[in-house]
Amino acid sequence: MESIVISLGGSIISTDGLNLNFMENFARELQGFGGDYRFGIVVGGGSLARSYINDLRKYGVNDNILDEIGINATRMNALALSSFFADSNSKIPVTVNDAAELARIYRFTIMGGTEPGHTTDTVSTLLAERINARIMINATSVDGVYTDDPKKVKGARKIPSLTYDEAINLALSKSVGAGPNVFMDLTALNIAKRSRIRLYVTKGTDLSEYRRIITTGSTSGSIIG
Ligand code: UTP
Repeated sequence: MESIVISLGGSIISTDGLNLNFMENFARELQGFGGDYRFGIVVGGGSLARSYINDLRKYGVNDNILDEIGINATRMNALALSSFFADSNSKIPVTVNDAAELARIYRFTIMGGTEPGHTTDTVSTLLAERINARIMINATSVDGVYTDDPKKVKGARKIPSLTYDEAINLALSKSVGAGPNVFMDLTALNIAKRSRIRLYVTKGTDLSEYRRIITTGSTSGSIIG
């Protein structure tokens, strides 16, 4: 059985409330894969996390607590998503260890964040490493890795394929004060590099991308590794 991990950007399922339509279609698409595949899905915090974190930061709440708030938001989104899958956990694991145990039972293991100090991209690569997934799909709001943030910089170019080191250098050059705008967090890139997990960065709302990546190995987004 092949293991696939998806880092599902929170902005895809949580904008102004939950994007129920997307969750329903996403679940239908993945459940259409046969029993040859098992999936680990790590869900981000989206606007739920962002609004709490931004408001509380103004009152001087420290980053560790803000991260805990963010983690709780990711877990709420994960629990919401799990309702759409017939063969998934309905209790959200709080560690990669626990998620790996659930992955032995369920075809779909759904979780959010784990510890302060990183994002769900890192959790995704750790889970991929743990359950021997060869690929991790980073399903985001941007359709690939760009030379600059395409939402801010006119003329930013998409980069179809990068080595791990090219991706790390690009993330390093963009990470000063950028926070969530970096295409993937650095720890995630380093974990993918050490275990040679191929990363796909693609627009998560384009449902055809999942089948394309999983069955053909190609993408309209970007490949790292
Ligand atoms: P996300 O993984 O959604 O972070 O977790 P992000 O990349 O900043 O958000 P998007 O995907 O671009 O919308 C939300 C927040 O939860 C905390 C961090 O504060 C993160 O910014 N978090 C999440 C952790 O501290 N640890 C985790 O394992 C996961």
